[in-house]
Amino acid sequence: MFDVKILARSFVNWQRSMHYRIGLLRALSILFCASLMLACTAQTPREEAANSAPQPESSQHHTVALLGATGMVGGYLLEAALRRGYTVRALARNPAKLAQFGRRITIITGDARDPAVIRELLLGSDVVVSALGPVKADGDASRLINTTVTRNVLEAMPSEDISLYIAVSGAAVVMPGDQRNLLGWWIRTLAQVGLRGALQDKQAEYDLLADSDVNWTLVRCPLIDPQPFDSPPLVSLKTPPAFRVRAGEVAQFMMKQLDARDFVRQGPFLGSRDLGI
Ligand SMILES: NC(=O)c1ccc[n+]([C@@H]2O[C@H](COP(=O)([O-])OP(=O)(O)OC[C@H]3O[C@@H](n4cnc5c(N)ncnc54)[C@H](OP(=O)(O)O)[C@@H]3O)[C@@H](O)[C@H]2O)c1
Repeated sequence: MFDVKILARSFVNWQRSMHYRIGLLRALSILFCASLMLACTAQTPREEAANSAPQPESSQHHTVALLGATGMVGGYLLEAALRRGYTVRALARNPAKLAQFGRRITIITGDARDPAVIRELLLGSDVVVSALGPVKADGDASRLINTTVTRNVLEAMPSEDISLYIAVSGAAVVMPGDQRNLLGWWIRTLAQVGLRGALQDKQAEYDLLADSDVNWTLVRCPLIDPQPFDSPPLVSLKTPPAFRVRAGEVAQFMMKQLDARDFVRQGPFLGSRDLGI
């Protein structure tokens, strides 16, 4: 009888403590989600709203060597460069993917891991723009793609007197001066768990550039939506200002940098307004 009473009392205590723990967990989850939503909607810190309207033309002419033109972001970059009247030399492993551009661009056929292909791509160019990244279908061959290709570009830049190398990077890449808020920490944690290999490659790409003496800008993007320009992206040097960004806004920001040079040897984070999580 005595044992049954003790057993009953321990069961009630255990139930109470379980309720307490579940309650605490619930409260923490709500607190976490609320702060995440706040971080996303408050859009802070906002150091600069990039240019105020789409810019169809540029005051200066550029010959752009474009990597990744057959990809999602690269497609927006190609359109943006042509709209601004630039001459485009685009690299493609499969030139048929760019057939619709006909004679409006020069296509260099080849694999970006080949230094000779990069030297040919850069011939006569004054800036290099890249949205090149790992492709799932390439399997292991894509493991160190960004460091391999960036090394090739750095080797080829001096002989063409290239003035800027601007490339898409990830919002989880760390640089000196970062002051990540909760959203920034969360984005980095997600990438460390789900995109570890690609993140290591992109971090090593940054190290290569930081050790070089060329002018570079790494545009650190969170999740990129295949959407056109809507409004100028939010830009911060400290922490990602949003969880997502529109590809059209990334493309316009990057093209603007060919003249503005606001972020030379820096890694601005971009984000879009009104996209949410
Ligand atoms: N999408 C996102 O949410 C997101 C977020 C943050 C950062 N990023 C980064 O942004 C960049 C662009 O992303 P995305 O979504 O536009 O990628 P994507 O659609 O997969 O495009 C990748 C591009 O790289 C090219 N490429 C890959 N390996 C190559 C090689 N060995 N030689 C020549 N070209 C090669 C591909 O060419 P083929 O057509 O021949 O395969 C394609 O044009 C990547 O660096 C990515 O990591 C993306």
